[in-house]
Amino acid sequence: MRRYSRISGTGSYLPPRRLTNADLVAKLAKHGVETSDHWIVERTGIRARHFAAPGVFSSDLGLEAARNALTAAGVDAKDIDLIIVATSTPDMVFPSTAAILQHKLGIAGCPAFDVQAVCSGFVYALTVADAMIQTGTASKALVVGTEVFSRILDFKDRTTCVLFGDGAGAVVLEASRVPGILASDLHADGKHADILCVPGHVSGGKASGDPLLKMDGQAVFKLAVGVLEDAARAVLAKAGKTEADIDWLVPHQANIRIMRSTAKKLKLPMSKVVVTVDQHGNTSAASIPMALDSAVRSGHINRGETVLLEGVGGGFTWGAILLKM
Ligand code: ACO
Repeated sequence: MRRYSRISGTGSYLPPRRLTNADLVAKLAKHGVETSDHWIVERTGIRARHFAAPGVFSSDLGLEAARNALTAAGVDAKDIDLIIVATSTPDMVFPSTAAILQHKLGIAGCPAFDVQAVCSGFVYALTVADAMIQTGTASKALVVGTEVFSRILDFKDRTTCVLFGDGAGAVVLEASRVPGILASDLHADGKHADILCVPGHVSGGKASGDPLLKMDGQAVFKLAVGVLEDAARAVLAKAGKTEADIDWLVPHQANIRIMRSTAKKLKLPMSKVVVTVDQHGNTSAASIPMALDSAVRSGHINRGETVLLEGVGGGFTWGAILLKM
């Protein structure tokens, strides 16, 4: 009998410090940087973001999200046999944030590693976990997206610093006799690396270059809307489904305009699109599991429904997963 993987629980966590657009406008004004609630809402749909306190790392946010997902799944941490963390803001250069999270969960022994695909990271990580479960390498995986993007923002650059926030989301993915994950589709094209990057690196014990986020927003926007449609169509074709089979679209929460455009191309009403970007901005690899958890906990997404997850981000990377909850 074929072995599949299925999500058995979801969880998320936002650090308590919340900055509304008005709070951010006031903070940036101190640096002589001008922006407005009107501009941010109109161009992005973002109304607030959360920033982690100093000394709080991706593993700390991931720990809270992981605990919530484990409770929802009714799974004890000691039964987890694989941990994959998607993050572009790891606690350290090494060890991996996944290994640090494993220890914070009070467990040891299972494989734990990070996946770095920026805002597509969670879709990449879930695809890897699914493959490892299908081959029998793992049976109960914890897949986490967690970020402290506030640490890599340039608060003098209004074109980027208003867009991002910190947070974490997690799922427990378990071996199943009935299909959960139906199909996935992952891509990267490194020639676009410079349109969204943090070009700094560590050398000789120091950060060299510029360790802050740079983005050509318009170039990212244009590429994103095209590749998201392609990835959605690819997973539908692989699973033998059509747009009409989609109950919910859970896109990467970067910009409401990208989400509207994707929904339109797939002929989905916005009532089928999970939108949380207004509450926390772009949390990169955390955004998809956070949005999924929010829709599950609010009773919108239910067992048996067909869900399309879609991510796009630095690399350039993109991908989609079609699954049954
Ligand atoms: N406040 C006020 N004005 C601003 C701000 C701001 N925060 N930022 C830019 N502006 C100004 C610009 O200076 C420009 O002014 P000008 O016309 O006088 O020159 C004007 O607003 C328009 O700027 P654009 O860059 O053309 O604005 P656009 O409509 O493209 O919106 C945005 C910018 C929101 C960044 C958009 O391009 C976008 O969302 N791109 C995709 C970003 C994205 O999804 N990134 C995440 C990918 S995920 C990952 O991997 C991290």
